[in-house]
Amino acid sequence: MSYYSQELVEEIRSRSDIVDVVSGYVRLQRKGSNYVGVCPFHNDRNPSMSVNQPRQMYHCFSCGAGGDVFKFVMEYENLTFPEAVKVLADRAGIELPERDSSPEAKRQSDLKEQILEMNRLAAKYYYYMLRQPDGRQGLEYLKGRELSDDTIRRFGLGCSSKRGSDLYRYLKSKGYSDGLLKESGLVQADEKRGMYDKFWNRVMFPIMDARSRVIGFGGRVMGDAKPKYLNSPETKVFDKSRNLYGLHLARVSRKPNMILCEGYMDVIAMHQAGFNQAVASLGTAFTQQQSVILKRYTDEVLLTYDSDEAGIRAAMRAIPILKEAGLRAKVINMEPYKDPDEFIKALGAEEFQKRIDGAESSFFFELRVLERQYDFREPESKTAFFRELSKKLLEFEAGIERNNYIEAAAARYHLTYDQLMGMVSRTGEQLGDVRRQTPSENPFGEPKKRRQKEDAGLKSQRLLITWMSSDERLYRSIARYVSPEEFTDELCRKAAVLLAGQMETGRLNPAALFRQFEEGEEQQRAAAMFNDTIPTLRSREEEEKALQETILRVKQNSIAWQTEHMDPGDMDALRAIVQKRREIEKLHISLD
Ligand code: UTP
Ligand code: MN
Repeated sequence: MSYYSQELVEEIRSRSDIVDVVSGYVRLQRKGSNYVGVCPFHNDRNPSMSVNQPRQMYHCFSCGAGGDVFKFVMEYENLTFPEAVKVLADRAGIELPERDSSPEAKRQSDLKEQILEMNRLAAKYYYYMLRQPDGRQGLEYLKGRELSDDTIRRFGLGCSSKRGSDLYRYLKSKGYSDGLLKESGLVQADEKRGMYDKFWNRVMFPIMDARSRVIGFGGRVMGDAKPKYLNSPETKVFDKSRNLYGLHLARVSRKPNMILCEGYMDVIAMHQAGFNQAVASLGTAFTQQQSVILKRYTDEVLLTYDSDEAGIRAAMRAIPILKEAGLRAKVINMEPYKDPDEFIKALGAEEFQKRIDGAESSFFFELRVLERQYDFREPESKTAFFRELSKKLLEFEAGIERNNYIEAAAARYHLTYDQLMGMVSRTGEQLGDVRRQTPSENPFGEPKKRRQKEDAGLKSQRLLITWMSSDERLYRSIARYVSPEEFTDELCRKAAVLLAGQMETGRLNPAALFRQFEEGEEQQRAAAMFNDTIPTLRSREEEEKALQETILRVKQNSIAWQTEHMDPGDMDALRAIVQKRREIEKLHISLD
């Protein structure tokens, strides 16, 4: 995983002040010893992200994002760690050595880079072609679809020539071999014709990844010929299930939702009308990986699939995938038009905004589709429908949300709340719905009191780590009384061990420890601990008192833990615990 030596990484870090770097992306304001700004990792208008200069870490109190300067660049630019190292090294004017990866890994990454470069050249070429006499028809086609020059530029639209191997010859002139050209998917080969362009006489839609790199193309005929669109094949850089058309623009739209449409043209028309949160899948069905990607940027996805049968079926398939990823799904009604492109052309952006505001929750959309399969005049069919409805309602967690939906569904079918609730309960019993018990009903749940006590112990441990990581003087005072083994929380113990290691060999630098925590939740919790601000205490006495109490609590918590986990027959262990208890009682904690 690590391509670069620890020293080099630290050298780059020391020349990439986190406040400087983050300021390049987010407006920061000074607040005491901290800087605060609007967090770019969730939708917000309020400054909930703090950047701590002495500790060189950032942390968002609202969404939990946090880490060191490398993590920030990784998250913001959607980069891997080595890529973020490269960005910051370039910024600091530090030359990086060749990565000492295996020859095969190097060959693969070279291949990827070469394909990306070929794609970039091809996109430029198609874009240039659009302004040539040969591309006149293409430009007229796009203008005929009411796309502005600005939109054409923003999406990098172009066209491929009528002759079948112009791009091939162009890329060949740039020195690419036939073998490489085939890997790019831009050219094909057969025995009769030799090498020839995959796309010709089509308007071209470059497909970009979240970092705006061209990874493939869609090409549309300029009339009614079939197939309407041709897409690049999957290559080393083009994975259709993990990318979304328009994501590089939508991800920075700062809108409260994302809009998922069916086609390239829909995305473009929406962006042109100001709905720059629109994306589309890439000529294939919406995938689970795509929903996970969307979840990184939003909590709510609005579907604008075509209002024909195929569109409804596609929406019915996408909804459970979105919900699985924890997204709220809604469906936009575009009647009487077929797709958003047509809708906006006919009625304009303002009307479309109204449809967004009135989007139907996926639950009711699914119900309407379900209704069509039953005949309400037939008692049996009607009963079967209500059974299906009850099952859907049972998918919501028992509680307010389910009750709200029961209430709304009851109103829709002219039932009372109690009537529908009765059906849902009966269906639940038949299905053996024991999944959704609330904790108070759960006989195996932990007693509440013990949970609270544990939480208090955890809080003190975290607080102590925050203190220890904040400056060397405090570290030394605390380390005299508490050893790393006394932290019962695994993450806190790990942090204490790592901090101790740093102090032994040099100076405190919590940001450098950050990467030793596991990617994901562990890193987030570590960042929160290292970055937390110490409550401002008025006097040295107050500081001393707070510290004493916290140290005591951590030590007592450790003993409680040991007592609980000790083998009852182990007399030595018992003696040791008793001895420790006595020591604590006599302990005098002072800050000097
Ligand atoms: P649509 O037919 O709705 O295309 O197909 P569109 O983007 O709205 O284009 P216009 O308005 O007719 O010009 C939706 C998506 O399905 C894929 C493309 O990704 C397209 O954007 N598709 C469609 C193909 O890959 N191949 C095809 O032949 C047709
Ligand atoms: Mn269309």
